[in-house]
Amino acid sequence: MTKAVLGIIGGSGLYDLPGLEEAEWRDVASPWGTPSDQLRFGRIGETQIVFLPRHGRGHRLSPSGIDYRANIDALKRAGVTDLISVSAVGSLKQELFPGDFIIVDQFIDKTVARVSSFFGNGCVAHVSLAHPVAPKLVERIRMAAVAEAIDHHVGGTYVCMEGPQFSSAAESHLHRSWGADVIGMTNMPEAKLAREAEISYATIAMVTDYDGWHPNHDAVTVDQVIAVLNDNRDKAQRLVARLARDFPAEHEPCPIGSDRALDHAIMTAPAA
Ligand code: ADE
Repeated sequence: MTKAVLGIIGGSGLYDLPGLEEAEWRDVASPWGTPSDQLRFGRIGETQIVFLPRHGRGHRLSPSGIDYRANIDALKRAGVTDLISVSAVGSLKQELFPGDFIIVDQFIDKTVARVSSFFGNGCVAHVSLAHPVAPKLVERIRMAAVAEAIDHHVGGTYVCMEGPQFSSAAESHLHRSWGADVIGMTNMPEAKLAREAEISYATIAMVTDYDGWHPNHDAVTVDQVIAVLNDNRDKAQRLVARLARDFPAEHEPCPIGSDRALDHAIMTAPAA
């Protein structure tokens, strides 16, 4: 049996979660680099939780400045078995409104300036990412959203761009032509590294704007993103708190093997 530890990577509304007991910030060092911040350990009901503010407290780190390897490694060292990413995104579809929550299940990685693997130079591994999101976590998020009467969409493709600038209108139309649903700047390589670390991963994408394509909406601004996130703070907190309260004590084996992704992935022969 593996004890479940629920990791949450997200913004400020989440580490101040009402109902978080025995909460404590702790340093967790990683040989891979410097995590975005200390980790906040706590408990909701019987569930152990570890939060990591993705951009650091006070939002000091840009998406390209985050050390994604250090973050995932620190969460792994903290015992996290299941990781929920809570992320602001722009909508690429008319029917995905600002304020909506999307439990995405696919990613397109357009990042260009991030280290995206723990492997290489001495130990080569190729994990499968055909299904980057853990289906049991999707189902648990869905059940929590239903229990809290929070409108949500299940499934969708998240384009991860480098940023920090938002997309041009032409890029936004291009991403729409790919059939993608939302766009953000942080879930890659986070999801790839979680897979390499054998941590089950899922994303709650919170729509804050219509990116740059919508003829009836102004181009996205930071003020708009922050205003929608503030309006949604209560919903996001309730969703995460419910998910945590109802989480099983034991980690549920992942039907697509996200928690044992290295079993068939390592190419390099063990040292003699
Ligand atoms: N985060 C929130 N809105 C976004 C957008 N339109 N593009 C990229 N990242 C975002």
